[in-house]
Amino acid sequence: MDRHRLSAIAHTHHPIAAPLLGVNVNRLLRRADRQPTARILDLGCGEAAWALQALAHHPDGHADAVDLNRHALERAATAAAERGLADRLTLHERDARSYVPDGDYDLVLCVGSTHALGGFAGTLELAGRHAHPDGVLLIGECFWEAPPTPEALAALGLRPEDHTGLADLVDAAEQAGWTPVYAHVSDTAEWDNYEWSWTGSLTGWALDNPGHPDAAEALAQAREHRERWLRGYRKVLGFVTLVLRRC
Ligand SMILES: C[S@@+](CC[C@H](N)C(=O)[O-])C[C@H]1O[C@@H](n2cnc3c(N)ncnc32)[C@H](O)[C@@H]1O
Repeated sequence: MDRHRLSAIAHTHHPIAAPLLGVNVNRLLRRADRQPTARILDLGCGEAAWALQALAHHPDGHADAVDLNRHALERAATAAAERGLADRLTLHERDARSYVPDGDYDLVLCVGSTHALGGFAGTLELAGRHAHPDGVLLIGECFWEAPPTPEALAALGLRPEDHTGLADLVDAAEQAGWTPVYAHVSDTAEWDNYEWSWTGSLTGWALDNPGHPDAAEALAQAREHRERWLRGYRKVLGFVTLVLRRC
């Protein structure tokens, strides 16, 4: 099954591909708000749920949103049209690493997509090149909420050194010249909501389409993901969304 299509189905009921509730998305965007005419860039945007909500906060703003996943971008275009935001959102189907920086964005977002930009340090470096000198970065990144267990590492296919704790993550941001002016740490309810939505949407789709050639694989992928989460990284992997300014 095409992994982009699988991901799009899995996010049917949770278009934000990260463990955050809408109320916290809005709180983060308010803290990142600098001016109504903001130029916004969303790198690894998925269905552009962040970019669309950012436009709702910036009534005269414009957003560019970049992703490789055509299925996700199609959903972004539909959502933008439904919300009357299509004329203020430009979607770019391309590798975020090759999006040419102009150094003049007010807000650069990269939530849950830092792997695409070479990890947290790479994201700060690249996203920073897009932001103007007074611009804000909004970056969502994983960290170890608890010391990683062998089960969690196996479930995620990671080594302990692939993430740090929260304090070390903030230190890394400051060493790169960015300091948090706000942050939100996802709680267990947000993780549960996200993961049940992911596995549940895929399971529901498979059960609704029993004759589809991808149904059996979708069901198997949902079950495997659920096992890795419940027996592996639940309450071990953390997620923080940082609002950062240059220091
Ligand atoms: C976990 S999702 C996060 C999506 C979105 N930021 C959100 O919070 O809803 C990661 C996204 O990164 C995208 N991605 C991965 N590698 C990429 C790359 N090199 N360039 C652009 N997007 C990429 C994936 O297609 C996926 O949509």
